Amino acid sequence: MIDLRHHGDSEVGGGLIDFAVNVRTGTPPAWLAERIRASVADLAAYPDPSAARAAVAARHGRAVGEVLLTAGAAEAFVLLARVVAPRRAVVVHPQFTEPEAALRAAGHAVERVVLGGDFALDPSAVPDDADLVMLGNPTNPTSVLHPAEAVAALARPGRLVVVDEAFMDCVPGEPASLAGRLPAGVAVIRSLTKTWGLAGLRAGYVLAEPGLIGRLAEAQPLWAVSTPALAAIEACCAPDAVAEADAWAAAMGAERDRLAAALTGRGLHVVPRPAASFLCVRLPDALGVRALLRQRGYAVRRGDTFPGLGPDWLRIAVRDAAAHDGLLKALADLGV
Ligand SMILES: Cc1ncc(COP(=O)(O)O)c(C=O)c1O
Repeated sequence: MIDLRHHGDSEVGGGLIDFAVNVRTGTPPAWLAERIRASVADLAAYPDPSAARAAVAARHGRAVGEVLLTAGAAEAFVLLARVVAPRRAVVVHPQFTEPEAALRAAGHAVERVVLGGDFALDPSAVPDDADLVMLGNPTNPTSVLHPAEAVAALARPGRLVVVDEAFMDCVPGEPASLAGRLPAGVAVIRSLTKTWGLAGLRAGYVLAEPGLIGRLAEAQPLWAVSTPALAAIEACCAPDAVAEADAWAAAMGAERDRLAAALTGRGLHVVPRPAASFLCVRLPDALGVRALLRQRGYAVRRGDTFPGLGPDWLRIAVRDAAAHDGLLKALADLGV
C-alpha cells in the first residue's frame, strides 16, 4: 500500500541539506517578504480577495469570474473533490499524490492511469468514458512537461480535465500552460508556494469556467485565503514579478541541466527533458543510497511513494552549483 500522504517535507530536518522539498531556496525574496509584512497592518479586517483576484485574472488574461483564490493548490484539490460527482475518475500517474488522496477522502473511486517509458502523456491510455481526469504539468515527480496540445486533447464534452500547473512557472515563457487558453472543460490549478517560497503562507488559485468557479467557491470556507496570502498573490502576479520568475526559471534550468548531465555521466538514468525544478532519477537500490546519503547529511526524496515509480527511484531538487557539487561528491563517496 502506497502512502499517498507522504511528502518531501517529512524527509527533511535534523540539519540535513535539503534536496527533497521542491521549494526554491533563498525565498521569499526581500521585496515580497516586505509586502507580506506590510499586510499585517490590515489584519483586523476580514480578507478582501478582490484586488488579488483581479491581479490573477490580469496575469493570465482571464475574466475575474474564472478565478478562485485558494489556500495553496492543496485546498483546490479538496474543493474540487467535494464538488465533483464523477462516474469514472482517472488520475494520471506518476504525479503528486494529493489529488488522488483528496478524491478518495471525498468518497470517490479513483482509477490510475500509469504512464510508462519516459512518462510522456499518452492520451489513448485515458479511458474514453472517464469524466474526470487529473494530471500534472510539468509533472511532479518526473519533471516531464506535456505539450499544451496533448493536454488540451484530453478535453471533451462531459469531461472535466484538471491540470495541476503548480510547477509551470519553472518553464520560461510557460508555452505549455493552458492558463491563458482555458479550453472548455479544462480547469487549471496554480501554486505560488514553490517559486516564491510561500509554502508556509498557503497561496494558490484555480482557473476554470465561471460555473465551476462558483461551485468551488460555495464549497470553500469563508475567508479561506488570509490577508497576507492575498497580498502575496497580488504581488506575485505583477508583471515585474512574473519577469523575475521567468529569469529565475531560465537560470534554474541551466543549473538543472548541468546536474542532470553529471548524474547521467555516472550511469544514472535521469528522466529525459526535465522541465521543472527537480530531477527524477533511477538507480539500483535507490532507497539504500538515500539512506546512506542521509548519514552523510543529504536528504533526497524517495520515489517509492509515487504510484508508477518504485524503490529504484529518487527525486532530487535543483539547487545551486555548490550544493550540487556537494551532493555529487557524497554520491561519489558511495561509489555512485
Ligand atoms: C505538483 C504539486 N502540486 C501541488 C502542490 C501543493 O502546492 P501548495 O503548496 O500550493 O498547496 C505540490 C506540493 O508539493 C506539488 O508538488
